[in-house]
Amino acid sequence: MNAIVVVDQNWAIGREGRLLFNLPGDMRRFKELTEGGVIIMGRRTLNSFVEGHPLPDRRNIVVTRNKDLCPPEVEVVPDTGAALEAVAQEDPEKVWVIGGGSVYAALLSRCRRAYLTRVETVAEVEPDTYFPNLDHLPGWEIEETGEPITENEVTYRFVRYINRNLDSAS
Ligand SMILES: NC(=O)c1ccc[n+]([C@@H]2O[C@H](COP(=O)([O-])OP(=O)(O)OC[C@H]3O[C@@H](n4cnc5c(N)ncnc54)[C@H](OP(=O)(O)O)[C@@H]3O)[C@@H](O)[C@H]2O)c1
Repeated sequence: MNAIVVVDQNWAIGREGRLLFNLPGDMRRFKELTEGGVIIMGRRTLNSFVEGHPLPDRRNIVVTRNKDLCPPEVEVVPDTGAALEAVAQEDPEKVWVIGGGSVYAALLSRCRRAYLTRVETVAEVEPDTYFPNLDHLPGWEIEETGEPITENEVTYRFVRYINRNLDSAS
């Protein structure tokens, strides 16, 4: 299982239920990586999609205490433990934790890799949601750093981290 996220220089990821940046190249990469696989998200992240619809061509698993808030096309689980049970038979390389802050915090330690889109500035608005700072989390290290890309006057890189804490896990 892997996490995928866009962070700014301060590891911020969102504000008032929305993303901080509009990066078409990042969106394309997200689609390429996750299509055909499984995505695990919190209910607020589902709500942030266009009209709250799940993403096509992926198994959409939504964590919520209130399944009435979700459309029938998604698979609802009552907590993050149940999300892990739901993906137990899947190929781990095709399972993606896609946010938001609460679900990343709960499942990051179970992720093998984190695929970051690292924006090289801070967001213009005051964020309210963050990703854990992997540079301060023991066991996490950078595996690959991409070249800088500039879009909509925002420069970012794709940076992949690996979780060495799972090296001895089965
Ligand atoms: N930068 C990025 O890559 C990225 C990616 C994804 C999201 N985001 C941003 O992150 C923000 C949303 O993050 P968030 O932390 O506020 O919300 P979230 O994690 O998307 O969703 C939170 C909701 O998920 C459910 N939930 C989470 N943990 C649970 C648990 N252990 N048991 C039961 N239910 C649980 C609850 O739903 P109920 O209230 O229905 O019970 C909770 O209110 C938005 O701004 C979004 O745009 C950014």
